[in-house]
Amino acid sequence: MAKQLKVGVIGVGGIANTHMPGWATSEYTEVVAGSDVDPKILSDWGKKYEVKRLYDKSEELINDPSIDIIDVCTPSSYHEALSIAALKAGKHVLCEKPLAPTPEAVRHMIAARDASGKLLMTAQHMRFQGESKAMKAEILTGALGNIYHARGWMLRRAAFPGRTSFVQKRHSGGGACIDIGVHVLDLTLWLMGNPKPIAVSGVSRTELAKNPKVFTVWGGANPPEGWDVEEFASAFVRFENGATLILEVSWLLHHDTPGEDRQIWLYGTDGGAHLPKCEIFQTNVETKQLYNRTLQLTKDINPPHAQECIEFAQAIVEGKPSPVPPEESLQVMSILDGVYRSQEAGREIRLD
Ligand SMILES: NC(=O)c1ccc[n+]([C@@H]2O[C@H](COP(=O)([O-])OP(=O)(O)OC[C@H]3O[C@@H](n4cnc5c(N)ncnc54)[C@H](O)[C@@H]3O)[C@@H](O)[C@H]2O)c1
Repeated sequence: MAKQLKVGVIGVGGIANTHMPGWATSEYTEVVAGSDVDPKILSDWGKKYEVKRLYDKSEELINDPSIDIIDVCTPSSYHEALSIAALKAGKHVLCEKPLAPTPEAVRHMIAARDASGKLLMTAQHMRFQGESKAMKAEILTGALGNIYHARGWMLRRAAFPGRTSFVQKRHSGGGACIDIGVHVLDLTLWLMGNPKPIAVSGVSRTELAKNPKVFTVWGGANPPEGWDVEEFASAFVRFENGATLILEVSWLLHHDTPGEDRQIWLYGTDGGAHLPKCEIFQTNVETKQLYNRTLQLTKDINPPHAQECIEFAQAIVEGKPSPVPPEESLQVMSILDGVYRSQEAGREIRLD
């Protein structure tokens, strides 16, 4: 039986493939069309998923009246224009992270969302991992009390995406900050309850990628041509409620862990927490006992990239708000923009 929400995907070469199981699993959605600037990628994708309507021009897909949801999976610099066009055409939009590489662009997208009355969601798949959901639920019980400090890092060793779409600013809008900083920052802010950021002191730089022999364990060009983005960033963020955050991201650090080390530490008045260990740390001052406990996880039913699509469709059908509100992505991008501006100015930057 035909499902009620028809999905069109734009930019089908990479991450879009991880969304396809979600659209197929949801009881509400089916993918009916795709678009890509690369005709070979588009036709291979069409064959693989048996999608017949293939558009070489994204405007044609966006204006296809039978489509209800546009799934934007292009390199980041194109998210703004495509999402706004889709919202104007009356479609709901799921857009890959970052929603857009600048706060200004995100504001434009929020304005288009408001004018359209449709849902706009950022595909922050890490919020849909079982351990993230368990930690969020635990925090909502008040287990940590007032979270006044956090540390979040996503550090890769010799592991940058070996594609020009990630390392040329005109496609990506930035480097490690925009690619992976967005993930760890979004997750940390969400767990902290999205306090309002007010100031950032940060650095963003390229060190190891200056070496023309630098390589990535993931393959691809070493390094891709025209690299003009940062590989590393570190920042200290202040929030309106007095909380603070230390952030570190890198694609290329001489770190001990092969591949990726991603950790979030949260410190509150009643307890601390760690992801991905999914542990809570508490102290009983009456008995002087220190105790740690591991949260029970329900097994992930779907991979997180699929689950985000399923929950987006569900929100549309049930008339609920976007599962990842663009306003929260605006906080993320304001902080990362603050890191870049702080690097340039050589001092702490106040955020609007
Ligand atoms: N959530 C995650 O874990 C995750 C992982 C990887 C990438 N991403 C995000 O997904 C987006 C795409 O990344 P990717 O790895 O799939 O990149 P990619 O470069 O591998 O693929 C993007 C696809 O978009 C196509 N394309 C480029 N410009 C286009 C345009 N203007 N219109 C239509 N199609 C266009 C390309 O031909 C390619 O097929 C980026 O925003 C990235 O940040 C998210």
